Amino acid sequence: MTILLLGSGGREDALAWRLAQSPSCARLIAAPGNPGIARWAQCVALDPCDVAAVVALARAEGAGLVVVGPEAPLVAGVGDALRAAGIAVFGPNADAARLEGSKGFTKDLCAANGIPTASYVRIETVSEALAALDRFSIPVVIKADGLAAGKGVTVAMSRDEAVEAISQAGDGPMVLEEFMEGEEASLFALVDGPNAVAFASAQDHKRVGEGDTGPNTGGMGAYSPAPVLTAELEQRAMEEIVLPTARAMAAAGTPFSGVLFAGLMLTRTGPSLIEYNVRFGDPECEAIMPRVEGDFAALLYGVATGSLASPHLSDEATMTVVVAAKGYPGTPVAGGAIRGIELAEQIKDVTVFHAGTRQSEASLVASGGRVLAVTAIGRSLGEARARVYAGVAAIDFADGFHRRDIGWRELERAE
Ligand code: AMP
Ligand code: GLY
Repeated sequence: MTILLLGSGGREDALAWRLAQSPSCARLIAAPGNPGIARWAQCVALDPCDVAAVVALARAEGAGLVVVGPEAPLVAGVGDALRAAGIAVFGPNADAARLEGSKGFTKDLCAANGIPTASYVRIETVSEALAALDRFSIPVVIKADGLAAGKGVTVAMSRDEAVEAISQAGDGPMVLEEFMEGEEASLFALVDGPNAVAFASAQDHKRVGEGDTGPNTGGMGAYSPAPVLTAELEQRAMEEIVLPTARAMAAAGTPFSGVLFAGLMLTRTGPSLIEYNVRFGDPECEAIMPRVEGDFAALLYGVATGSLASPHLSDEATMTVVVAAKGYPGTPVAGGAIRGIELAEQIKDVTVFHAGTRQSEASLVASGGRVLAVTAIGRSLGEARARVYAGVAAIDFADGFHRRDIGWRELERAE
């Protein structure tokens, strides 16, 4: 079949790479894609949030499946429009995408279904928020309600900081919640209505600086699996969090279809939900894709058409290191030349996914904050680490930087 993939980042490059290798993918089209994705797919310039244009392209190309990478087109209703046109789509409808689009919606769903998550209040104005603050101990977490590209959350370490964050946020929907202690892990599950199967676990590194310091980013690196999410904890997370969510969404007449990304806090009493995303994580996806075995396109098609099957993942370990442009997550330096990707990919089991690149006349150049997602697989996380950093070292990108400590928690434990 012909598959249309929506998106243009490192996540989509990894999806394109794996889809293009799938026996049931005869032809891959990406919109808008990027120079990395163009290695595996035919790229078409198009705004993936332009719902009518996406449906028209899928029709014109005879797409048998549309795979939606990022959340914004889902929240904009691209899933609904494709389903209405009779085209199979991997990704939820807009009402189910509220699991990511509205933190308040998800918190209420958890409360109504006994799903473990931090205790919270939903707030509409600054004065309400300030009044509610005294019901929480410090640290306290303040979240803007809507999509905020990872920037809508403040973990306030003092009352003053909380007041400041609330004032900065201004009037508008917000959630105040209890601070949970523990280690974070991400669980990706394939969901089709009330049914769900675990897909893979990963751990992301959100802070820009080594030792998990400095401002939050979209993610500076990841590894998979996350052994801290043991088989027992994963099963609990499926039974106590993911499956009750899938059943509640289906019972409400807003079934979820696609990949549900549960950000978990592994607390002393068990896994607790931090947040949901309705798509693969970036860079978690880059770390997971090399572990996927079998026909990935057929797996996603099954999710989209009501025949959810169990995925096959190798038990090898992967690591992804993001190479970002200097200045990120502030204003990144644009246009820096990138060389050496082919050299990096000559290293055994290294793949370099493009996150923010552009082909200029002279060379490949940076065109975003996160520029490359260098990924390697190995028999152990240590082996994957050695390979991925050899790959990073082979790349010549003077305007770039990366963290040298991806996987540190797990590597320390392994020692
Ligand atoms: P979110 O955008 O909801 O994933 O939040 C971003 C980050 O803030 C998470 O990855 C956590 O590190 C942290 N965070 C969010 N909510 C909580 C919470 N209730 N307790 C502790 N940390 C949290
Ligand atoms: N890496 C976190 C995310 O994709 O939201």
